[in-house]
Amino acid sequence: MISKNILVLPGDFVGPEVMSEALKVMDWFSSRGLIHFEIEKGLVGGSSYDQFGTPLTEEVINLANKSDAVLFGSIGGPKWHDVNYDLRPEKGLLNLRQSMGLFANLRPAIVFDALVDASSLKPDLVHGLDIMIVRELIGGIYFGEPRGIKKIKDNKRVGFNTQSYSTEEIVRIARVAYDLAAKRGNKVCSVDKANVMESGVLWREEVSKLRDEYYSNIELEHMFVDNCSMQLVKSPKQFDVILTDNLFGDILSDLAAMLTGSLGMLPSASLGSKSQDGKIPSLYEPVHGSAPDIAGKNIANPIAQILSLAMMLKYSLNHDKEADLIDDAVQLVLSENIRTIDIFEGVGNPVGTSEMGDAIISKLEIIAAN
Ligand code: IPM
Ligand code: MG
Repeated sequence: MISKNILVLPGDFVGPEVMSEALKVMDWFSSRGLIHFEIEKGLVGGSSYDQFGTPLTEEVINLANKSDAVLFGSIGGPKWHDVNYDLRPEKGLLNLRQSMGLFANLRPAIVFDALVDASSLKPDLVHGLDIMIVRELIGGIYFGEPRGIKKIKDNKRVGFNTQSYSTEEIVRIARVAYDLAAKRGNKVCSVDKANVMESGVLWREEVSKLRDEYYSNIELEHMFVDNCSMQLVKSPKQFDVILTDNLFGDILSDLAAMLTGSLGMLPSASLGSKSQDGKIPSLYEPVHGSAPDIAGKNIANPIAQILSLAMMLKYSLNHDKEADLIDDAVQLVLSENIRTIDIFEGVGNPVGTSEMGDAIISKLEIIAAN
């Protein structure tokens, strides 16, 4: 069997804890001879800074670019708040996304039947919810120049960033959204702030033009981001694929995550363009952060990390069947009310991070045996 080279970057705080559970799942697949993983591990974020004085080393960038896929945990925390801005843990992740050319970030927000009551919205509003947020990931205000903090007169200062999007950047991410929509509900809602920002005006024009030329069977709607955030809370099931820029996608995906019950449930995939050898650079990470407040207590929910592994199997490794196995095992665990504290609903006792991982493995065993 051809082995898959996976770079595992656990990161900081709860990152390594939830990653241990994903590694158990990978071990399970290896031990059953279903997939063979060649795993390299590396440091990123604060843990890399502590060891090497930088949140991302050249060595990790090289390993990432050579790998079949990167499985990422989470980074950051108050421990590094006083570190020089350019060396903060977040820069490690941002630079890795940029170095790998990961322009497309897919963030599914799916409500599992068993978790309908964990949502902050009424059950009938979210029952069956299945939204895919497609977020542009290496452009816009996150990376725009000029940026900085500068002194102006009277010892006052100004902080500034630049939002800009080129036709090329818009078109390549819009294609991803349309292609995904074609496999789902054939609907794209493109989100911008075109009533205030020129970058949004261009975004809107290019997204429409592409649809008219190549995707006439996809229903396209444009929405301002303020309205979209309201609609997501008012009637989230109207959405199929949401296409948006880097900053709006960051914000809306946290919002969408809460519709599903917990930030601890949401995986994500970040993809680049196919290279000449046919490989698509990819990185998989939970949407949640490093949660320093609950780190080290064995209470973090590992499901988002484990579902990120499932996305990796599906989108990068051509193992759809095994990805479905993981999804089914997670469903089964939830339906039996095995819950970490973030999704706990008062039945029995909440389980810890490692118990949740073990529970998912035991369900994998059961499903595979049938
Ligand atoms: C995310 C995170 C990151 C982002 C941070 C950690 C840099 O919030 O992946 O949503 O803003 O992209
Ligand atoms: Mg975010």
